[in-house]
Amino acid sequence: MNPPVTDHRLLERLRADLEAAHYDVGHLAEVLGATAVAALERENGLPAVLAARATEDPAATLARLFTLADPVPVELAEGALPSLGVEGARRLGLVTGDGESVRAVLDLSPVDIGGQGWWLASDQDSSATASPVLPDHVLGLGGASRTLAELTVRTPVGSALDLGTGCGVQALALSAHAGTVTGTDISPRALAYARFNAALNGMTAQWREGSMLEPVAGEQFDLVVSNPPFVITPRGGALDTYTYRDGGRSGDDLVRDLVTSVGSVLAPGGLVQMLGNWEIPRGRRWTERVREWLDASGLDGWVIQREVLDPAHYAETWLRDGGITAERDRAHWETAAEAWMADFASRQVMGIGFGYLVLRRPLSDDGTRRHRLEELDGPVGPALGQGIATSLRVADLLASLDDGCELDLAPVVATDVTEERHHIPGQPDPSVILLRQGGGLGRVVRADTVLAAVVGACDGELTLGQITGGVAVLLEEGVGEVRAAVLPAIRELLVDGLLTLPE
Ligand SMILES: C[S@@+](CC[C@H](N)C(=O)[O-])C[C@H]1O[C@@H](n2cnc3c(N)ncnc32)[C@H](O)[C@@H]1O
Repeated sequence: MNPPVTDHRLLERLRADLEAAHYDVGHLAEVLGATAVAALERENGLPAVLAARATEDPAATLARLFTLADPVPVELAEGALPSLGVEGARRLGLVTGDGESVRAVLDLSPVDIGGQGWWLASDQDSSATASPVLPDHVLGLGGASRTLAELTVRTPVGSALDLGTGCGVQALALSAHAGTVTGTDISPRALAYARFNAALNGMTAQWREGSMLEPVAGEQFDLVVSNPPFVITPRGGALDTYTYRDGGRSGDDLVRDLVTSVGSVLAPGGLVQMLGNWEIPRGRRWTERVREWLDASGLDGWVIQREVLDPAHYAETWLRDGGITAERDRAHWETAAEAWMADFASRQVMGIGFGYLVLRRPLSDDGTRRHRLEELDGPVGPALGQGIATSLRVADLLASLDDGCELDLAPVVATDVTEERHHIPGQPDPSVILLRQGGGLGRVVRADTVLAAVVGACDGELTLGQITGGVAVLLEEGVGEVRAAVLPAIRELLVDGLLTLPE
C-alpha cells in the first residue's frame, strides 16, 4: 500500500475539516463514551464502532472511517469532510471506495503526546486489516512510542533529533520545544508518513533517509530521542522481519552500537533518551553488560530496567505482535518460536531486559562519568520527563557543592510523597516506614526512624544542618553520627525528587 501524498493544498482542507469536527482525543471520548474508550484500550473496537454509528457527530464519522476501519456511506463521509471532500481524501491516498461506501486505507487518529494534541497517520494495524502486518509496516502510536514521549524531557532546546522516526510521532512532540527538528529513518515509506504528518500538523522538520547515525554524521544535537528497532530477532530467514521493530542486526548489537556511538552527534550538555532491549547471558547480571556499553559511550548514563522476559516469553510476545499465533497457524508459530529460542540459546541468553536509557554528554570534560543502573518495575506516574529533568538538575547541583555545603540546603517534601508506617500488632514502634512517591518513577524508599524524622522536618525553611542538629538532640545521639547516617539517603531523595529544592 502506498503511503499518503503530501499535497499541501489538500492537506490544508483536511486540517480545516478535522478542526471543524473537533477530531481530538477529548471530544471523541465524550462522543463515544467511557465504555467504548475503555474497550478500545483493550483492543476491542466494537463498542466504539457501535457508538460512532449511533451518532451523526462528524468526529464520530471520522473516527469510524480513519480509526476504527469501519466503512461509511459516501454521503456521510462527504458531510464529515466538507472542505476536502471524498475525492480530495482519495487523492491524498487516505481512502478508497466503490461509489456507495468509503473505507480508509490507513489510520488517521488524534493523539495526545508531549502535552499537546496532534493528528497522526500510520498504517492500519493487524486488528483493522484482519491480517498480519507487512514487512514495511509503519507503526502508529504504540505503547513504546507513548513511553518514550512521556519520558522525554520537554525543556526548550536548540536542536533535536528523532532517530528512527517512523510516522514522525516523536518529532511532532519535539517540535513544540526544539528550535529545529531532524527525523531519520531507513524506511522511505516511514518518511513519507512523517512528511505527511508534519504538513498536516503545520510542523517543519528535516527528514533524512539512512541507517542509524549515518544521515546525521558530523552534526550535533542538544536532544536525541529514539525508539529504535530494538527487537532481538534470529537472523537467517527463519522468521518474518519487520522494519518497524528489527534493525537487521544480531542479538542486541543495534542497541549497543547506538549507545556507544550516539555521543558523536551530541552537543556538550546534550541528552539522549531512548528505549532498548539487552541480553542477559547465563551467570551475568544485566548491569555488567549495560555498564560496559556506558563505559564505552564516554557519556554519563542512567539506565532503568523496567522488565525482564525469559526467551520463551520474549518470542511469544513478539510473534503475537506480528500477528503470528498458534491459533492462526500452529506449524508456523512453532517453527518461528523454536528459531527464536535457539538464537537466544546460541548465546546462552537467559533473560532479555527492557528499559529506559538516559545518556548525557557532560558540559565540561573532567574525565569523570556518572553511571546509574537500577531496576524499577512498578507503575510510573505522569510527568516522567519532568522528574528526569529534575533528577539531572539536582544531581548536577549536588555534584557542584563543596563538602558539607548540602547542610545549608532547605529542602521540602514533594507534594506527591506520602509516608506509610507498618506496625506489628501491639508494637508501639513501626517495623517498616516507607516513603512513597505518587508521580515520577513511583519510587518507594524504606526509611528508618532517624531518616523519617529528618524528612518529616523538611519544610523548605529549616536547613539540613538545623534539622539534623535538632534530631540529634532529640534522639540523644551525636550530630556527626546522625549526619553520616542520613545525608547519603537525603542526597538520593533530592535527586529522585522525593525532596525538592527551590528552582
Ligand atoms: C519502533 S519504530 C519507532 C517509530 C517512532 N519513532 C515511535 O516512537 O513510535 C522504529 C523505527 O526505526 C526504523 N528503522 C529500522 N531500522 C533502522 C535503521 N537501521 N536505521 C534507522 N531507522 C531504522 C523503522 O523504520 C521504524 O520507523
